[in-house]
Amino acid sequence: MNLFRRPAPSLDDLILDTAGNDLSSARLMPTVARPPQVFVRGQGSWLWDSDDRAYLDFNQGGAANSLGHSPQVLIKALSDQAQALINPGNGLYNRLQLNLVERLCEHTGSDQGYLLNSGAQACEAAIKLARKWGQLHRGSAYRIITAGNGCHGRSFAAMSASSGGCDNRFEPQLPGFSHVPFNDLPALHAAVDAGTVAIMLEPIQAEAGVIPATEHYLKGVERLCRELGILLILDEVQTGIGRCGALLAEQQYGIRADIIMLGKGLGGGVPLAALLARGKACCFEVGELEGTHHGNALMASAGLAVLDTVLEHGFLEQVRESGCYLGEGLARLAYRYDHGQLRGQGLMWGLTLSDDSADAVVKAALHEGLILNAPQPNCLRFTPALTVSKSNIDEMLLRLARAFSRVRTAQLQCRKGIAV
Ligand SMILES: Cc1ncc(COP(=O)(O)O)c(C=O)c1O
Repeated sequence: MNLFRRPAPSLDDLILDTAGNDLSSARLMPTVARPPQVFVRGQGSWLWDSDDRAYLDFNQGGAANSLGHSPQVLIKALSDQAQALINPGNGLYNRLQLNLVERLCEHTGSDQGYLLNSGAQACEAAIKLARKWGQLHRGSAYRIITAGNGCHGRSFAAMSASSGGCDNRFEPQLPGFSHVPFNDLPALHAAVDAGTVAIMLEPIQAEAGVIPATEHYLKGVERLCRELGILLILDEVQTGIGRCGALLAEQQYGIRADIIMLGKGLGGGVPLAALLARGKACCFEVGELEGTHHGNALMASAGLAVLDTVLEHGFLEQVRESGCYLGEGLARLAYRYDHGQLRGQGLMWGLTLSDDSADAVVKAALHEGLILNAPQPNCLRFTPALTVSKSNIDEMLLRLARAFSRVRTAQLQCRKGIAV
């Protein structure tokens, strides 16, 4: 008897591609809600499913594909590097890892960096680094204060650092974190005590629905950290590497963190993240942070290709320009459909709807050939490729308008049905 044999998936669970091959979604752990389409290729702002239908992608893998789908620069970097060396292992130096860390430090004004594979890993590493610093300088203090509705990832420490923005179902959480309301400086001040080692924040809360920190708040947090001698950790996993129209969002706020987390857009769709540290925060020693694929040469080659592109003359200016164009278009559409507040910066926008119809709009948009994300029941998030064109934005707005109309019609029909 084959002990490893599992029941075959039922026909209802099968996803077939155009050739009739079973893609067996039933075998995949159902941890993520996905539409039934299977995607087979991408180019820039466009994705194609297995029926060759084209979709305009304004989510881009949750803001990861910073240069869009399969950009030539990334294809070339990855294929050249794959020919030369994929992975010597984290216990050996490779040139790509050293180059990328050097370039990141040079352009962000950091002193040390380390490469990892996901935002959650960068968060875990930032927590470790802060705790290490606490042992050295704060009498073993280890508590980190974070903001309500923040999201720093879905591993255990990252989840415990998060509050409401990520998954909080797996109690008990790890100790050592306190959450205070976002954009509330007095609450933050009141929460700091002798056991506090750091404050960790997103400059713009992404999963909470693109909620920016005010300049007054972030400058006040930086001042507080300096006065009290604790670390400021900025989670720039989503806002960093050009997403907000500058290499880092902290540059736009005119502040300077001690530790920075990067991820998502850094790899342009390839799993890559980074931890950056400045001055006194550089205190890791041998044996304190390792991972099989940390600093992987293939991943680092992707990071270098993305960073070189984002730092090209005029690139960030173009992001700011496209961002304004997208923001203006969204504002017009929101007004026309009586939806609410628009928040964001660069090419990261959140639109609050007048009701909890975000999932319905995402579904209707998919029907219109548009891929969007709904981080909250009443909020849509727009994170297109940083290379998105004005015509792509115009086309997106047309499709979104049709999706809004579809949802409105369905809501009206539903109300009429109830009235009858
Ligand atoms: C601000 C922020 N930090 C960290 C993470 C976690 O990144 P990852 O999903 O790569 O682990 C996310 C993911 O959405 C995020 O938005």
